[in-house]
Amino acid sequence: MVAPVLQKAVREVLKSLSPGSTMVAADLGCSSGPNTLLVISEVMSTIGAYVQETADDSRAMEVQFFLNDLPGNDFNLVFRSLEPQLRSSLFAAEEEKAVPAPCYITGLPGSMYTRIFPCQSVHLFDSSHCLIWRSKVPEDELVSGGRMVLTFAGRKRGEMPMHGGVARVWELLSEALRHLVQEGRIEKKKLRSFNMPYYAPSLDEVTQLIKHNDLFDLEDIKLFESIWDAHDDSDGDVVIDCSSSAESIAKIIRAGIEPLIVNHFGKDILDELFMVYVSILAKDLEKGKAMCPVIVVMLKKSKH
Ligand SMILES: C[S@@+](CC[C@H](N)C(=O)[O-])C[C@H]1O[C@@H](n2cnc3c(N)ncnc32)[C@H](O)[C@@H]1O
Repeated sequence: MVAPVLQKAVREVLKSLSPGSTMVAADLGCSSGPNTLLVISEVMSTIGAYVQETADDSRAMEVQFFLNDLPGNDFNLVFRSLEPQLRSSLFAAEEEKAVPAPCYITGLPGSMYTRIFPCQSVHLFDSSHCLIWRSKVPEDELVSGGRMVLTFAGRKRGEMPMHGGVARVWELLSEALRHLVQEGRIEKKKLRSFNMPYYAPSLDEVTQLIKHNDLFDLEDIKLFESIWDAHDDSDGDVVIDCSSSAESIAKIIRAGIEPLIVNHFGKDILDELFMVYVSILAKDLEKGKAMCPVIVVMLKKSKH
């Protein structure tokens, strides 16, 4: 669901560039795992296909690609895996007779909420599952007419903020925290003062916000459902192995929320909390698969 939107954004950027230009693209919050290089591969194969279709001279165009994440991200792992993976994607492009444009990839450690690019220097931003805690976007760094593809968890039309696929997994985490209060492992007042700065917006809310803001034109917006447990590719709504599914969902939630939990409750309760969470989740998954509504938007920076 996200790939076609990203491809469309790349094509729009390519149309706007004059021959011989360098396209500057960045993945904000790239992480360091099997998905890290998917965005670069998608961008490069779209450029390859575009060049082939338009009989453009690919050699005239170059791509500068920035991989951004927080300084603690394992950039060494990313760059060690880059060589073979990128080469194989370039070979794939050659086999399809598309001539790849030269691509220069750079790691950019730093928070995307600070200025990390010169003014108006980037043609394309992609950010997937990072605008979770705050919703600030780097509008100043994007060239006028540049594109931004954002993917984030949302909620379905008609659902209240405290309902739906995203709220379900957080509600179960709060049940696990309440369990630790009952066990005397967490103070009641500590739990009362814990705030989760998380909001899953609806399509209408996102659309309204973008229109109200006036900095971007909304070129595409879609909502689709993705399964929380990415390892579960079975058909139907029934979870075949609730325990292993619960463990894999808990890992995702833990990866995202661990710093907040440690900061507020201390690290001593971490393992116990997530053990309780796994068992509560596993029980809940007996009702059916946990799905996460995901919103993907394509924005164009307004020319004013
Ligand atoms: C859920 S992962 C998403 C990874 C990848 N984009 C994907 O879709 O699979 C969120 C990533 O955002 C990064 N992140 C969180 N806050 C950030 C910030 N302020 N600036 C840059 N990266 C940030 C985290 O370090 C983490 O790698």
